[in-house]
Amino acid sequence: MSQSHTTFAKFLHWGFVILYVYGIFKQVNELDELEEKKILLFEILFASIFLIIVIVRYSYMRSFKTFLGAREPVHVVHYYFARSIHRAMYACFILLPLSGLIIAGLYAQGYTVNATPDEQQTIMDVALDLHGAVADISYVLIFIHILAAIYSRIKGEGVWSSMVPIFNEEKPTNNQVIKKIAALEEDIYHRVESVFSSKKK
Ligand code: HEM
Ligand code: HEM
Repeated sequence: MSQSHTTFAKFLHWGFVILYVYGIFKQVNELDELEEKKILLFEILFASIFLIIVIVRYSYMRSFKTFLGAREPVHVVHYYFARSIHRAMYACFILLPLSGLIIAGLYAQGYTVNATPDEQQTIMDVALDLHGAVADISYVLIFIHILAAIYSRIKGEGVWSSMVPIFNEEKPTNNQVIKKIAALEEDIYHRVESVFSSKKK
């Protein structure tokens, strides 16, 4: 019998997905919008709550192993790869509100313009670039995360069902094509592992 994440872990995962999607859609489009005191204060409040929830979530989830629901032992390379993607996601979820708060602080200090590329750049331009870049990286990581979850569901490893409340009558696949792809995947992990272990010698 494979293990499942706790109800609280599922609540944090899916509650946070809603918070993140809301944050992305309600985003400030132009620096000028911060002129409105109410918007500036709302952004600061939202970013602070977002940051606190990410920290609570990370602290809680640290006690659970990656691929908690997997029925079969997971290759060490696969494990580290997934864990790195999760950590990179957390790094984005911390840097996103943090760079937003830096923008708010700089705005309040009088940095109220976003220079064009040929004008002299200020610290505000650096903060805005960082904010935008982190948002873009988070989209890529979440895309990889969702694809990996769907692929794992197709293989029927048990990981999907440990976190996702739907389509969770999961059984190991009997599809020969998927089995071949999974064998190829395992082979890649073995090769990566042997590269690292031969470097260690
Ligand atoms: C269809 C959408 C999604 C599916 C099916 C899905 C599925 C999963 C599954 C199965 C896990 C558990 C992995 C494990 O046990 O190691 C997980 C963990 C995680 N998910 Fe998602 N996810 C989805 C969307 C998202 C989104 C949009 C975000 C970010 C906003 C996200 C962030 C995370 C993070 C950070 C973890 C790591 C949990 C931890 O160990 O702290 N997921 N997800
Ligand atoms: C968790 C909180 C936040 C999220 C999820 C978020 C998300 C985003 C995203 C996705 C963008 C678009 C980036 C791009 O198109 O390159 C953006 C832009 C922006 N954000 Fe945030 N943001 C957050 C907090 C803040 C805060 C606290 C401020 C400042 C009060 C802020 C100020 C801005 C500004 C001024 C822009 C427009 C940049 C431009 O002129 O191109 N954000 N934000």
